[in-house]
Amino acid sequence: MRTVSSIRAMKGKEKISVLTCYDYSFASLMDGKVDILLIGDSLGNVVLGYDRTRHVTMADMLRHTAAVSRGASHTLIAADLPYGSYETAKEALKNSHALLKAGAHAVKPEHKPEIAAFLVKEGVPVMGHIGLLPQTATKYGVQGKDEAAAKQLVKDAKALERAGVFSLVLESIPSSLAREITHGVSVPTIGIGAGPDCDGQVLVSYDMLGLFTKFKPKFVRRYAQLDREIVRAVEQYTQDVKKGAFPTKEYSF
Ligand code: KIV
Repeated sequence: MRTVSSIRAMKGKEKISVLTCYDYSFASLMDGKVDILLIGDSLGNVVLGYDRTRHVTMADMLRHTAAVSRGASHTLIAADLPYGSYETAKEALKNSHALLKAGAHAVKPEHKPEIAAFLVKEGVPVMGHIGLLPQTATKYGVQGKDEAAAKQLVKDAKALERAGVFSLVLESIPSSLAREITHGVSVPTIGIGAGPDCDGQVLVSYDMLGLFTKFKPKFVRRYAQLDREIVRAVEQYTQDVKKGAFPTKEYSF
């Protein structure tokens, strides 16, 4: 069973594999095959069909966290604190406790080191997140490209390390900056669009499985093309139903 401390101890020894997961069936398939399952608020994009993650609510996160937790017993489960759920320390703590009760082992707010520090002090394991912050971003794309922005991200990483996060997501930043941050902090960095030198990697499972195909960010490698397989199966099923080839005796009582 992966724990927050075993993940922390992996820095410099073994790369950390993280995938997003949103439901029971996927969790059952992925359990024990990755180090961390993240109920990301990318749920809003790939499952709920919103154009932004900020439409995701606490109720959404609780339902999906509980579903993942019913399917996974070996892998560490982290859940995003959705937009608007950690504006104050008190709210952040209340909502984190609700996610932990639903089955998460850790929560992930976007940046906000002072909130992270408060949660950690209260005993809530926190995964940090800097770089591209989809909940509040006005401009998507690579962050920290100029010197000032890069320096700020190094400062942000250090602030989250001081806050006591057990790992730190680096989203959409240049590889050289991700390498500098990774070498400069004592906690494992988990990259997404942050190059090969982070301590671990996270992808949105629907992207890497080829289930969400509206667009493909440069940093996504497709490990399967399940869209094709699903469309093929659905078309075959409809054909069979229409021509009376399914159900046959074999599938009848
Ligand atoms: O919501 C999400 O999927 C995430 C990852 C991209 C890190 O936060």
